[in-house]
Amino acid sequence: MRILVIGSGGREHAIVWKIAQSKLAKKIFCAPGNGGIADIAECIPIKTDDISGLLEFAREEKIDLTVVGPEAVLANGIVDEFQKAGLKIFGPNKRAANLERSKVFSKELMAKYKVPTADFKVFDDPEDAKRYIEKKGSPCVVKADGLAQGKGVVVAKTVDEAKDALRMIMEDKVFGSAGDKVIIEECLEGEEASILVITDSKEVVALASAQDHKRVFNNDLGPNTGGMGAYSPAAIVTPGLFKEILEKIIYRTIDGLAKEGIEYKGVLYAGIMLTKDGPKTLEFNVRFGDPETQAILPRMKSDLLEVMLAVVEGKLSKISQFKWDERSCVCVVCASEGYPGAYQKDKKIFGLDQAAQIKDIVVFHSGTIRPAVHGQQSTAKYMTNGGRVLGVTGLGNTVKEAIDNTYQAVGKISFEGMHYRRDIGQKAVSSS
Ligand code: AMP
Ligand code: GLY
Repeated sequence: MRILVIGSGGREHAIVWKIAQSKLAKKIFCAPGNGGIADIAECIPIKTDDISGLLEFAREEKIDLTVVGPEAVLANGIVDEFQKAGLKIFGPNKRAANLERSKVFSKELMAKYKVPTADFKVFDDPEDAKRYIEKKGSPCVVKADGLAQGKGVVVAKTVDEAKDALRMIMEDKVFGSAGDKVIIEECLEGEEASILVITDSKEVVALASAQDHKRVFNNDLGPNTGGMGAYSPAAIVTPGLFKEILEKIIYRTIDGLAKEGIEYKGVLYAGIMLTKDGPKTLEFNVRFGDPETQAILPRMKSDLLEVMLAVVEGKLSKISQFKWDERSCVCVVCASEGYPGAYQKDKKIFGLDQAAQIKDIVVFHSGTIRPAVHGQQSTAKYMTNGGRVLGVTGLGNTVKEAIDNTYQAVGKISFEGMHYRRDIGQKAVSSS
């Protein structure tokens, strides 16, 4: 089969890497890809938001299956366009992608179908929202309705912080029309977990659990990022809790969507807060998580391409369970200095070959490029090209072994200003 993967992050590198292991895969393209993906797939310079360009490419290159990584292009209806053209594509359609594109849609659906989530209220008038914040007091959480690249959520410890967030979203319009509406919600306490499932709308098969590390510094300090590391499985999600999350959150949501006439196909990712009153949904994403996918896919023994094809063809019931490597997997993100704020690019990356020689290590690339070498020997094969640069990923018989193995590999790698957290997975060690 000829496959096209859309995206350019560590998540897409992990997806391409996993698909490349399938006997069914004959040729893999990635649009636009990155330095590491270019080692295992043909990268093509088409942007992820160029739906007509991607469609034309898929037609011309006779692509058998397209796999979509990022949410924005799903929200813009790439799946609908490909389907209209009779092309196979893995991911939810535009209406289903509303679950991530609009937090208001998602919260209202949860309320209607009794999916546990934080209490909330929706506002389209900043003055009303301000009065509500003053009445309710702190802490509270202020959320922009639309897509804001993970920056549209502020957990406010004080009323002033909440009002500042409101101003930023609704008045300064930092996220544009994504801030036309806001949600003010109850602040939940607990540990977070990421539960991802794959569904063809009839059958739902869960992926292994994972935990992300959203804050930029050790001990969960500093601003939120796209994710500084992850590990799988999340020991805190016991089999009983996993079942409860599937029953009360995942199935109710997919059934609720179906009752609204929306067919959900692809990956559904639930961000869960494990509160003392049980698991509650923080958000839904309509795609694989990043970096969670980098920690989940190295443990997956089943053929991901076969699974994706089954979803597109509505035959997921043929695969009622995925097979997993029992070992733990840890992914440590190496980021550019300054991330999630402004950062520099084009720094040479050293030590990747040494890291790759360590047993059970795979280094996924997020923001890297391979510099063009014009007849000269370059001292580095890859340069940095983003905030999150690499996802150094390792397996171990225990989470502690996986951590030690991964950090040994991280120690071999360097680039100017490289920053990484030193406590990825520690929560699982202390709770085991
Ligand atoms: P979201 O994009 O909705 O997942 O929010 C990003 C992060 O904000 C989550 O991973 C949580 O850490 C935090 N968060 C979101 N909603 C709440 C809430 N109701 N209570 C506490 N923390 C929250
Ligand atoms: N790791 C968080 C996300 O993928 O949205």
